[in-house]
Amino acid sequence: MKKPKVITIDGPAASGKTTVARLLAKTLGYSLLESGAFYRLVTCLLLKHNFYEDFISKKLDPKDTLEKIFSSVTVKLTPEATQIFYEGKEINHELREIQVEERVSVVAAIPEVREFITGFLRRLVDHRLVVAEGRDMGSVVFKEAELKVFLTADEQVRAERRYKEKVEKEVLHYGTVIDNLKKRDQLDSTRKVAPLTIPEEALVLDTSNLSPEEVLQKILSHLENLEKA
Ligand code: CDP
Repeated sequence: MKKPKVITIDGPAASGKTTVARLLAKTLGYSLLESGAFYRLVTCLLLKHNFYEDFISKKLDPKDTLEKIFSSVTVKLTPEATQIFYEGKEINHELREIQVEERVSVVAAIPEVREFITGFLRRLVDHRLVVAEGRDMGSVVFKEAELKVFLTADEQVRAERRYKEKVEKEVLHYGTVIDNLKKRDQLDSTRKVAPLTIPEEALVLDTSNLSPEEVLQKILSHLENLEKA
């Protein structure tokens, strides 16, 4: 097998996807596609425009609204990050704010939102070499990807990881973090369109007791075996 064009890494919240995807992208010289950032972006822009309630209650036409709020969006993909600009300003930090985090899984369950983002991501990737991470990268968006990875980790471990990450930036209760994680996992796994699932041919790794470097090594040796085959 030759070098894969797209590598997908899916898994639940705080399973280590972004960290591992970034390490892999840097090692291989690929671009990093953080797909969750786009669901966060939709949520953030709906709130910014005061469209959130009307969008959720279907008072606004989904496609028109999404096209309108995305008209000032530009994206830059590097091996380090998916940088998102709104009206020329980078807004990645806003996408991690609590008001976005609390609503993103509700927005991501709306079929029209998924259709819009799926099309957007496919056009964005085009002929680039990417490591794409998220919930449905291997199962729906890049079904043809030559290498698919699925990361899992115990809920407790994931909550601790996310808490450590967040508490460096803001004052936060551990309970709030674990509640949010559980709620999002529940919504992401049970939604009708593109729920979180393990793609059939995926390499499944439990990262509870592995460092990001160890996960990277496992993926690289799996890739080597695939290339030999
Ligand atoms: O970093 P973390 O896994 O906590 O979140 P994320 O990857 O930024 O994703 C945020 C949310 O976006 C998820 O909880 C899902 O609701 C949604 N998402 C999705 O539906 N499909 C994807 N491919 C990626 C994210």
